[in-house]
Amino acid sequence: MIFHGSGSTSEPDVPPEQRTKALDTPAPSRRAVLKAAAAGTAVAATGVAAPAAATPPAATAQAYAVAPGASVEVAMTVNGRLRKVVLEPRVTLLDTLRERLGLTGTKKGCDRGECGACTVLADGERVKSCLTLAVMRQGAEITTVEGLARGEELHPVQEAFIRNDAFQCGACTPGQIMSAVACIDEGHAGSEAEIREWMSGNLCRCAAYQNIVAAVADAAKEVRR
Ligand code: FES
Ligand code: FES
Repeated sequence: MIFHGSGSTSEPDVPPEQRTKALDTPAPSRRAVLKAAAAGTAVAATGVAAPAAATPPAATAQAYAVAPGASVEVAMTVNGRLRKVVLEPRVTLLDTLRERLGLTGTKKGCDRGECGACTVLADGERVKSCLTLAVMRQGAEITTVEGLARGEELHPVQEAFIRNDAFQCGACTPGQIMSAVACIDEGHAGSEAEIREWMSGNLCRCAAYQNIVAAVADAAKEVRR
């Protein structure tokens, strides 16, 4: 039993969650941020401004073009708490969460956008935190798996994963749970097929898919009540 691979969709190489993001992405792309940083580096190194065609949008350049090796302060609300970190613009949200804020519940699987283990919510939308630079999330509300429970009370999705035995080694589980929370919130948990499609960006090397799908369907019923 496997999730539908990305090849089964009308947009073969883009998982559903990324398709959603592509439609209404407010934050600058990682490419834009890196280009802005690179432009700053080139100017500093050569004293010559980059050609206009290679210059990123003004807002992006203003916000993110910094001197080589320089750091920027990023402020985000993480699990309801304002956190400020000073880091280089190239640091991913995933590394910021794990290594700077000590939130190791978010897992690093592939570190290149393929497995979904690093999924978190940014302003309520699921994102793969290994593909997102922290500076791109300036001012954002970030929710990680540590932020789902209310005290001793687990989130309905967490309860459903336990009830349905929806994990084996657990490496993918935080990402699966965060993705499931968003999947239900997006209204994409109406059937087993729909859950499989909209959870297809989260891989499970233990192949616990049958139980994961059952858990998401189960949680969706609870959330709708
Ligand atoms: S660690 Fe981010 S998608 Fe695999
Ligand atoms: S439970 Fe092991 S990778 Fe999913």
